[in-house]
Amino acid sequence: MALEVIPAVLVKTREELLDHISRVSNYVKTIHIDIMDNKFVPNFTIGIKELQDLPSGLKYEIHWMVERPEEWIGKVKGPYLHMVHVEAVESWEKLAEAVKGSGGRLGVALNPETPLEKLKPHLQNAEKILVMSVHPGFYGQKYIPEVEAKVKELRRMLPKAEIEVDGGINPETGMRVASCGADNLAAASSIFAKPDAGKAIGELKEALKKGWGERHG
Ligand code: DX5
Ligand code: ZN
Repeated sequence: MALEVIPAVLVKTREELLDHISRVSNYVKTIHIDIMDNKFVPNFTIGIKELQDLPSGLKYEIHWMVERPEEWIGKVKGPYLHMVHVEAVESWEKLAEAVKGSGGRLGVALNPETPLEKLKPHLQNAEKILVMSVHPGFYGQKYIPEVEAKVKELRRMLPKAEIEVDGGINPETGMRVASCGADNLAAASSIFAKPDAGKAIGELKEALKKGWGERHG
């Protein structure tokens, strides 16, 4: 189980994307890229074109906040982890083909109000579970504490899964979700709104370790 802090990048241009990546690339292994279509959520970001040829030496996970992600993913080539919302997929068959065709892997995401039951049919194909602790659409939103019971239950169901929490994560909320069983923390504003991104990441890593330690004695 790898404990990881993963910077979340929610931007509207390729230039901003590269700038954000360069601010954190020395401190992390993975970057979380938020993609929005202004339909599944009321906001838009960069799209497929900007995802080509990302800087090497990092892993990328793409958080698809779009309707029918199966129509987007096949057009992105690369070894990325595609995290799709269970609420947004229309054809899981097409999705599996698209992910395979892209050369990537699959993860599943769920909104705060979506029950864990919705995940069950897809768990065996997913490498990671992304639990939202805000309603997706924007960075800088307030953390929804009800996520904690959900993470606890999910960890109980799946002792070995990779579980990431996304939305309103700072050292305090990060420690809380880690103590419930999350091993990955995605964070945007608590990293990028700080003058020193490296220091902010260090604080989140400490919180993650501490919360995880509380859980595992
Ligand atoms: C929310 C996005 C998150 C967001 C996190 O719609 O999926 O990844 O960028 O932002 P913070 O950490 O500021 O809540
Ligand atoms: Zn995200």
